[in-house]
Amino acid sequence: MTLPQVVRDASLPERVTIYEVGPRDGLQNEKALVPTDTKAEFVQRLVRAGLPVVESTSFVHPRWVPQLADAAELLDLLGEAGKDMPVLVPNDRGLDRALEKGVRHVAIFGSATETFAQKNLNRSLDEQFAMFEPTVRRAREHGLDVRAYVSMCFGDPWEGEVPIAQVVEVGKRLFDLGASQLSLGDTIGVGTAAHVTALLAAFNEAGLPNDSLAMHFHDTYGQALANATAALRCGITTFDASAGGLGGCPYAKSATGNLATEDLVWLLTGLGIEHGVDLSELVRTSVWMAGQLGRPSPSAVVRALADSGP
Ligand code: HMG
Ligand code: MG
Repeated sequence: MTLPQVVRDASLPERVTIYEVGPRDGLQNEKALVPTDTKAEFVQRLVRAGLPVVESTSFVHPRWVPQLADAAELLDLLGEAGKDMPVLVPNDRGLDRALEKGVRHVAIFGSATETFAQKNLNRSLDEQFAMFEPTVRRAREHGLDVRAYVSMCFGDPWEGEVPIAQVVEVGKRLFDLGASQLSLGDTIGVGTAAHVTALLAAFNEAGLPNDSLAMHFHDTYGQALANATAALRCGITTFDASAGGLGGCPYAKSATGNLATEDLVWLLTGLGIEHGVDLSELVRTSVWMAGQLGRPSPSAVVRALADSGP
């Protein structure tokens, strides 16, 4: 398989953790319902490709996201390994369902803006904290690790620009509920590189160091890799990505695919940054998944490598 020539930049981190969100962020947005055993195979193939963290599904209301209504059945199929994979939980009911399956990592997901809090969570910006607070407390009491997402960090399709100070205030409040990591979401992919740098500087200033932060880029405007490079330059070492570039949020107008894991792996490989992922295995997985979904992967690297033959 073709790989990029490695040219190391000593100012960049030596190792990065890729947090794979394809089975969750990717499949939550698919029109077709993917059979549960296909999802299980997708997750297992991603693990085999070397992805160290695979977010498997969501325990959200099944009417809100019917695509992931089979969360419990999926975890049954994944067995012991599934318990170490993070799942989304919005509230106590979601946590109860996750606890029943023995999961050890959960993620809450808040909004930096009022409108998206209403659309995605049926709560106001302030009410979201009241929903998450008991859930995070109980998760911690059960010994679970909690990640917090904050969405609309770089712009909101209804409200337009989102002030950096507002993102930092919401993000810090979510993190301070008891999370071990805060993932900063460019839900609709509008951010650009200097915006990333400024947002990260503001979080650092507010007392959240880079090792407590992850970046979650969607690629709607083709900026995800440039933004990931900007975040690498700031010293970020956890990046969310989705195999084949699947993804989007059914409650965010104009949200399209996530940063494709293959595109990120290509960049990291070229920069000589360790990531532990087998690119050819990953591309085979995305080509297979694209076949299951009946449409080609939007990832440039998947297309290039799939076309280049074995
Ligand atoms: P609600 O309708 O306000 O819920 O929805 P409620 O608290 O009023 O409860 C109503 C009924 O729903 C009750 O049942 C609850 O038990 C039940 P009843 O008493 O009437 O029989 N219920 C549940 N059932 C199963 N599982 C649950 C659950 N919760 C309540 N977890 C809620 C509020 C938060 C549940 C709803 O708005 C929801 O599920 N939203 C999820 C939307 C979503 O999943 N969006 C995509 C993920 S976020 C994302 O993609 C962004 C991200 O990738 C980062 C980025 O890109 O920026 C993370
Ligand atoms: Mg997302």
